[in-house]
Amino acid sequence: SFAPTPADRFSFGLWTVGWQARDPFGDATRAPLDPVESLHRLAELGAWGVSFHDDDLLAVESDRDRAIAAFRKGLDETGLVVPMATTNLFQHPVFKDGAFTSNDRDIRRYAIRKVMRNLDLAAELGAKTYVFWGGREGAETDAAKDVRDALARYKEAIDVLCAYVKDRKYDIRFALEPKPNEPRGDILLPTIGHALGFISTLEHPEMVGLNPEVGHEQMAGLNFVHGIAQALWQGKLFHIDLNGQHGPKYDQDLVFGHGDVKSAFFLVDLLENGGYDGPRHFDYKPGRTEDAEDVWVSVEANMRTYLILKERARAFRADPEVQEALRASRVDQLSVPTLAPGETFESLRSDEFDLEEAAARGYHYSRLDQLAIEHLLGAR
Ligand code: GCO
Ligand code: MN
Ligand code: MN
Ligand code: MN
Repeated sequence: SFAPTPADRFSFGLWTVGWQARDPFGDATRAPLDPVESLHRLAELGAWGVSFHDDDLLAVESDRDRAIAAFRKGLDETGLVVPMATTNLFQHPVFKDGAFTSNDRDIRRYAIRKVMRNLDLAAELGAKTYVFWGGREGAETDAAKDVRDALARYKEAIDVLCAYVKDRKYDIRFALEPKPNEPRGDILLPTIGHALGFISTLEHPEMVGLNPEVGHEQMAGLNFVHGIAQALWQGKLFHIDLNGQHGPKYDQDLVFGHGDVKSAFFLVDLLENGGYDGPRHFDYKPGRTEDAEDVWVSVEANMRTYLILKERARAFRADPEVQEALRASRVDQLSVPTLAPGETFESLRSDEFDLEEAAARGYHYSRLDQLAIEHLLGAR
């Protein structure tokens, strides 16, 4: 029936349903949404968790203590959990040249303080993951920043914040969210690969992983499924932002599966079978054309699409014809180590190998791909 339940571990950012749909060319098309109403609507629709930026809590109540108290009460009433929290380091004009990598040292110090304050709340609410999306960490001209200095300051900020989490004994890990551009012309740590490389330079690399977003890798023309597979392989898929995107253009933040649906099918297949046990978190924007009720239709669409793809992926894997086709394409053979135990490079010299025969082998991927398409389209 594809009806979501808390066991599916679906979570949503408060900023997704609460987006008022301001864009660079037009005003808001929806009224501010009370975070407490969002909690109730999300829970009614079968969601399990909610994530937030510090400032999201202030959507309708400007007093921070009162806003937090109301939010806590809403969590208790609905049973929703807070698996992840993050900081708004992009909206206020003070961050126009970046937060951790602003050329201005006092702004960099303010940014770290702002994170520390919300880390305390995140820990109190039980969040296990804290996300850093550095949307303003970047530049429009290469004259503006020495990128080596900027990366050193980025590392310094993450190192200081790791030290803070350790000092307070919070059970929290950090997740960096790559994005190639928008709102900056070029953003630092633009892809999964850049972020993985950066993590290896940190003081506490084991505390830091990734929160990749579907659309962000696709904006860079990259294969999201491959990126997620590498993050999993390196033990760095701490969290995920699911949404939809049609190739390299502005960040569309569509409903999950409403962009490249074939990639979404293989993504769900990988998440469900590849050992990812974190939240299935949606970071999308209800279209600017949508009214206050349409927002909740789009919330449901994200979860239903995930569950439909999960069922399609299950059927694909269970189909004897698919299993036979996978064997015919020798997909299983790639898990066999190239050298047997005890062998060295010397062992490679004595192989019997028929170059012409090997070169002539077909891999039969068109059949395999068509089987995937037929399962995805519900034709099998
Ligand atoms: C984007 C980003 C943001 C961040 C979120 C958390 O679409 O550019 O995904 O939505 O994920 O703000 O900081
Ligand atoms: Mn996005
Ligand atoms: Mn995101
Ligand atoms: Mn987003």
